[in-house]
Amino acid sequence: MTGRWGPTRASLAAGLLAAASLVPIARAETPPPAAAATAAPGTARPELWPAYTYPVPARPEHEALIADLLARMTIEEKVGQLVQADLCCVTPDDVRRYKLGSILVGGNSGPGGDDLAPAPEWLKAADDFYLASVDRSDGGVGVPIVWGTDAVHGHSNIIGATIFPHNIGLGAMRDAALVERIGAITAKEIRVTGQEWTFAPTVAVPQDFRWGRAYEGYSSDPALVASYVGAMVRGLQGPPEGDNLLAGPYVIASTKHFLADGGTDGGVDQGDSSISEEALRDIHGLPYGPAIAEGVSTVMVSFSSWQGVKMTGNRSLVTGVLKERMDFGGFVVSDWNAHGQVAGCTNEACPQALMAGVDMYMAPDTWKPIYEDLLARARAGTVPMSRIDEAVARILRVKARLGLFTAGKPSDRPWSGQYDLLGAPEHRAVAREAVRKSLVLLKNGGVLPLAPGKRLLVAGDGADDIARQSGGWTLSWQGTGVDNSHFPGATSIWAGLKEAVEAGGGSAVLSPDGSFTDRPDAAVVVFGETPYAEFQGDRAALLLDPELTAPYATMAKLKAQGVPVVAVMITGRPLYVNPALNAADAFVVAWLPGSEGGGIADVLVGDAAGRPRHDFTGKLPAAWPRAAQMADGTLFPFGFGLDYRSPRAAWTPLPELDASALGGDARMWFAAGTPAARWSLMVAGREGEVETRITTLPAEALAGRVRVTAENHKVQEGARRFTVSGGTASVQLSNFDGLDLARETNGDVMLLVTMRVWDAPAEARIGAIGPQARGFTAVTLPATPGYVRYGLPLKCLRDKGADMTGLIRPFVLETEGRADYAIAEVRLGSDAEEVLPCR
Ligand code: BGC
Ligand code: BGC
Repeated sequence: MTGRWGPTRASLAAGLLAAASLVPIARAETPPPAAAATAAPGTARPELWPAYTYPVPARPEHEALIADLLARMTIEEKVGQLVQADLCCVTPDDVRRYKLGSILVGGNSGPGGDDLAPAPEWLKAADDFYLASVDRSDGGVGVPIVWGTDAVHGHSNIIGATIFPHNIGLGAMRDAALVERIGAITAKEIRVTGQEWTFAPTVAVPQDFRWGRAYEGYSSDPALVASYVGAMVRGLQGPPEGDNLLAGPYVIASTKHFLADGGTDGGVDQGDSSISEEALRDIHGLPYGPAIAEGVSTVMVSFSSWQGVKMTGNRSLVTGVLKERMDFGGFVVSDWNAHGQVAGCTNEACPQALMAGVDMYMAPDTWKPIYEDLLARARAGTVPMSRIDEAVARILRVKARLGLFTAGKPSDRPWSGQYDLLGAPEHRAVAREAVRKSLVLLKNGGVLPLAPGKRLLVAGDGADDIARQSGGWTLSWQGTGVDNSHFPGATSIWAGLKEAVEAGGGSAVLSPDGSFTDRPDAAVVVFGETPYAEFQGDRAALLLDPELTAPYATMAKLKAQGVPVVAVMITGRPLYVNPALNAADAFVVAWLPGSEGGGIADVLVGDAAGRPRHDFTGKLPAAWPRAAQMADGTLFPFGFGLDYRSPRAAWTPLPELDASALGGDARMWFAAGTPAARWSLMVAGREGEVETRITTLPAEALAGRVRVTAENHKVQEGARRFTVSGGTASVQLSNFDGLDLARETNGDVMLLVTMRVWDAPAEARIGAIGPQARGFTAVTLPATPGYVRYGLPLKCLRDKGADMTGLIRPFVLETEGRADYAIAEVRLGSDAEEVLPCR
């Protein structure tokens, strides 16, 4: 056992498991030291892991159906069951022809190519795919398809659905019964639009909050995560004995991501976890016990690796531990093209995943090559038919328990099309209760509760922004590109405060920068993180991005004016925020509360007599840092949280750091007209011409053909302007270390270039250059009256031949002829104002 995770943590976890009556039937034994020394890296020894019994009863009628189907299915039909395609890239006709087992809707996909499509279109699409799957006109067996979606905090891809706090906020509640009710509501709302499967709950146990997906986990504490998992699975699926789930208000769940998604070194998304097998089992493995004890139907494998071996190819863990030792009886699905990262695999071919124990390939845009490759190998006998049959049987068994074979088309099933259930008042009430219970009070100098009959000022850039309080995985993948108009029926934090204050006879004013004409009695300043999801949430330090710290000054200013200040922080993780903790009289962590911002006012605004209407009950689900790195110490420990009865303590001012020197956001290559650290700005011409590194301004390059000057954008000299008199010229960003963008390319990440064009070039190309290969695409950059943030999918550069694993010039803009344009910012992201087509 490693030092950081001593026996205290493990025995605490065991105690909690026992309390939840989920005692594993066999306890792990400590291995003899000799055995430990001989295990190959990345190879688990299943006998060290706890054994469980999958509680879903075997049903003779299902087994007979499965046996009959397996006997009649062609090899093509069997292989089809193993493949899941994304809505981006598949049609009902494809499903009819290839007999695919499943479809999914990724964060950026939706019916008819619209991820913001209205609810009825989702149900219509569900019918279309279902009917295609059961079409037996060609003599096939017609296995009904199952549709999976990331309903990770409510039915969060659907406009109008109830959006619950993200898991980190639920972790603060310490209320498993409420988690089960949330699961039940989520399942019911999913059923309205015809899907049957959610890729939830995430049971990650994040150990490093620099990881951008940390908020998808309930807590850094394995015992707390484990105490929730069973409740969420039960809420979604109903009890493990349940059969024919679609007859009830249920869907199937997926615990993800197996294993140690939250344990990667440095908190790098999809990275490697170099921990011991004991830590792997006791920290990250713990939540899988209760999931299996509740009969979870599917498990999604993690993108990440353990001791250098990608999980998706790790037979010892996926088959040895999960399926055999833990007796998991559902099916295993891989993550979004994760098979392509397994040693020896590509996105198009990876029998290794099947052989490791993956039953269904999530092959969003690669389903056809994956299908064809598996089929060819099955025909040639290089992947054994026995393994294919086993995988198909597992998938059919889950489909049978779900009731898919008898449920009929999605729109004929109970709850389908009952659109008033999306965001129904009784559902929102539960979400609001969760918001109340998840708030963590870190400081209260006596300003809370707020008196309702007075004058309240609500400031901060996050006060009236429902997308921001909902975070990533909300309507869009990264949670970007949506605003309050996409959340009908929802309540912003501002709207909730206003309602509560006015109900008590007072008044409230919204003023994002904190300025006022009538002096307020108190101010609430809402600030914090903006939405992010995979990749884009990773940070080098536990800091707010510099552009999000302006509210610190607002707080200080209000305080200097004698106005008592309550800071409300929207965040997916504990961060260094000492300036806000010092400046504000009270500090509340709201996490990512979702659509019911009114829950914040419920706790912050008291009754007419000045008494609280609801007390604070939330406790930190993870320790809060003292400085920008957790290694520098804890400010508030795991479990900390004040309430209205806490004795008032004097505040000792906390040290404030010069955060500008500490941060570093790897996605930002060029900002405010300046290259980031370890980047440089170059101007180059034709092959053989001398290139110039631009350091001071104004500058000239290519023998005077290009002139570089400063241009104002947002800030003084916030952009660089390039005036080209003619010929071939390019502006390039060069990276000293060589950049590996393979992971980002697999996702929907774009190269974002914020620029303004005065004189449009006759021809323009954007590209990326590696040591061996370059990839360029032609773009049209018309003259524009202002700055535009263009986005070019990284996939396009890859498709044009760039080697995305070692880019030395990750950004090149090349023009022909006269041109005049300025560039303010170059970074990775998904929030383009205009997406450039890949030509
Ligand atoms: C994520 C999963 C998600 C899947 C489908 C992956 O990139 O890691 O959590 O379920 O995409 O959107
Ligand atoms: C999808 C997400 C997925 C991600 C994988 C995106 O294109 O929309 O659902 O998780 O890619 O990296």
